[in-house]
Order: sequence, then structure tokens, then C-alpha cells
Amino acid sequence: VLMSEPIRVLVTGAAGQIAYSLLFSIAKGDVFGKDQPIILLLLDITPMLPVLDGVVMELQDCALPLLREIVPTDKEEVAFKDLDAAILVGSMPRKEGMERKDLLKANVAIFKSQGAALEKYAKKTVKVLVVGNPANTNCLIAAKSAPSIPKENFSCLTRLDHNRARSQVAMRCGVPATHVRNVIIWGNHSSTQYPDVHHCLVQMSGSELACFDAVKDDAWLKGDFIATVQQRGAAVIKARKLSSAMSAAKAICDHMRDIWSGTPEGEFTSMGVYSTGNSYGVPDDLIYSFPVQIKDKSWKIVEGLAINDFSRSKMDATAAELLEERDTAVAFLGV
Ligand SMILES: NC(=O)c1ccc[n+]([C@@H]2O[C@H](COP(=O)([O-])OP(=O)(O)OC[C@H]3O[C@@H](n4cnc5c(N)ncnc54)[C@H](O)[C@@H]3O)[C@@H](O)[C@H]2O)c1
Ligand SMILES: *[C@@H]1O[C@H](CO)[C@@H](O)[C@H](O)[C@H]1NC(C)=O
Ligand SMILES: *[C@@H]1O[C@H](CO)[C@@H](O)[C@H](O)[C@H]1NC(C)=O
Repeated sequence: VLMSEPIRVLVTGAAGQIAYSLLFSIAKGDVFGKDQPIILLLLDITPMLPVLDGVVMELQDCALPLLREIVPTDKEEVAFKDLDAAILVGSMPRKEGMERKDLLKANVAIFKSQGAALEKYAKKTVKVLVVGNPANTNCLIAAKSAPSIPKENFSCLTRLDHNRARSQVAMRCGVPATHVRNVIIWGNHSSTQYPDVHHCLVQMSGSELACFDAVKDDAWLKGDFIATVQQRGAAVIKARKLSSAMSAAKAICDHMRDIWSGTPEGEFTSMGVYSTGNSYGVPDDLIYSFPVQIKDKSWKIVEGLAINDFSRSKMDATAAELLEERDTAVAFLGV
């Protein structure tokens, strides 16, 4: 069999806990395809290089057929060179007593620098997925710092929230998660996100029902369901004493695989993408999570869905949060 040329895939925060779950799936072909050879570029900060060496040893010990080369580094000019895909997981974590503004400032510095490195070293067709929080705003800063790469090639992860919503509905109905389609996550990846099931369909007892008809509990869908999805990250931290990693890695794989290979016919997914101000009354120049469909490595926002007053107010609230964060972050860009 003639194999294609290897693609170059960067994961940052490569010594961290999400990467530990993620790298194996990428390297074995779950994301870019079972016959696509891969060169993995692994970036972390200098003090983490010894840990990163351990991760590299383990990847080598997996003896994977598609993994052609592994490049661990703390240098952006090495990590971002000729990239086909970049998964930006590493960011500044909140430390004890750190002010929100200082945390945002530190992340603007990181994503400004990594955006500039994408601009300088990566392929112009690179697909960039931002995971490190605050994911939406970090993604916007990276995109602004790489002006010659189309803004459409930047997205941030809300697929974990999407998967959480799908699974909550599925468990409630007693069906597999794959029998639930077209949930939507709107807005920021935070507790103000709006998990919307007004267009969601559930396959149950031989037919496909609107979510509200399948669940038959409007109070739950408009109350505890939304709160559960919004607070899920915090609930995992409380239980595990660590943030979501296995499920985050799975969501990253789902997101990047859909960019690479498209979404299934008739299904949409949720992604934080660049808003031009032309969809659903969301202000322009924000990275906001929308329902999208993907074909030929291009996404399109699913247009024309009916939005009721309940949804409208929740979509506006999460947009307002992002606007405020953007303006603070952009002010830091200049300094
Ligand atoms: N969008 C989402 O749905 C979602 C879900 C889960 C976690 N997250 C976020 O993902 C990020 C990573 O989570 P984790 O659990 O793996 O954290 P972690 O602390 O285990 O790992 C993060 C790694 O990033 C590295 N890092 C920090 N700054 C870096 C930089 N400038 N360049 C390269 N590497 C750098 C750290 O050294 C560390 O090894 C966090 O910001 C977390 O909040 C997002
Ligand atoms: C948006 O979501 C991110 C990720 O959870 C969070 O860090 C950030 O604080 C949120 N923005 C605002 C303004 O609350
Ligand atoms: C990325 O940009 C290219 C043009 O360079 C475009 O053809 C492609 O559709 C974009 N990808 C996405 C995911 O939008």
C-alpha cells in the first residue's frame, strides 16, 4: 500500500495531563486516519522537558506504525515549523491568589507569541485548535497574531461540553449517546455557555423524536440539565481533585477528526469559531461556539434555526461575557 506523506502535528502542553490521554489516540490514527503517517511535535516549557522525555519514551514504547518521528522541544521555532495541525493545550493555569486580569494578561502573552510563531513558521493551511483556557479568547488572540492564516482555520474546543450535553440526554432517555444528535453549545466555554436542545433529536423505540418529546420533562431540560452541563467541569474537579483530562482528550479527537474528515450527513457539532456578526445576532470579532457542519475541511455555521426568547437571553449573556473579556485581552495585546 502506498502511504501518504507524513503530516506534522503539534501538541502544546505536551507534558500535561490532557496530552497524556491525547497523544496515544493521535499517534495511533484515531484523528487523522488509519493510513496517515504522523510526525508529532511536542512543546512544553523548559522545566517540564524531563517529564516530556518520559512521555516520548512511552510513545516510542507503544511501537505504533503511523508514528514516524517525535520532536520534544521548548522552542517555538522548532515546534511550529511547517505544521499541518496545531492543538494548543498548554496555557497559564490559575494560581493561588492570582487576579483574573493577571491570568488573562499571562495568557494573552502566550497566545500572542504562539500566534506569531504560527504566522512565521507554520503552513498557511494549518488547522489550529485552542484548548487551553480561557479557550475562546486565547483562540481570538492567536488568530489576531497570525494575520496571514485565515481566521476560519482557528477554532476552540466546546466539543467536551457538546459531548456532555449529548450524554446527559442519552442517559435520561436510556439510549446510547449516538442516538442523540444536534445538541448545541452556544458561546463561551464557561458556566455561562448555553447548552440548547431545541433542535436536538433522539432515536427511541424505533423512531426519532424531538428531544422535548423524548425526555418529557421540560422543567429538567430548562433547569437541572443546563446547570449540570454548565457545572460539569467543576463537578469533575471536586470529585477527582484534577480537571477533566480523559474526556477532554476524547473531545479534542472528535473535534479535529471532524475538521479533517467532515461531520456525518444530517448532523451538526459545536465549535468555537470566528463570528463575523452575520449569524444569530452574535457580535463580530468574537470566538463564539456555534452549531457547525464540516465538509472538505471547511465549516459552515448551521443557519436558520428558530431561536425563542429563552434561548435568546442565554445566548446574549454568554456573548456579553466574551465581549468584556475580548476588550480586556485586546488592550493587553498592545503592551
Ligand atoms: N476547552 C475545554 O473544553 C477544556 C477542557 C479541559 C481542560 N481545558 C484546559 O486545558 C488546559 C490544559 O489542561 P491540563 O489538565 O492538561 O493541564 P496540565 O497543567 O496538566 O498541563 C498543562 C501543560 O501545559 C504546559 N504549558 C504551560 N504554559 C505553556 C506554554 N506557554 N507553552 C507550552 N506548554 C505550556 C504546562 O507546563 C503543562 O505541562 C488548561 O488550560 C485547562 O483549563 C480546556
Ligand atoms: C470564558 O470561559 C473561560 C473558560 O472557562 C473562562 O476562563 C473565562 O473566565 C470566561 N470568561 C469570562 C469573562 O467569564
Ligand atoms: C482554512 O483555510 C483554507 C484556505 O487557506 C480554506 O480552504 C479552508 O477551508 C480553511 N479551513 C477551515 C477549517 O475552515
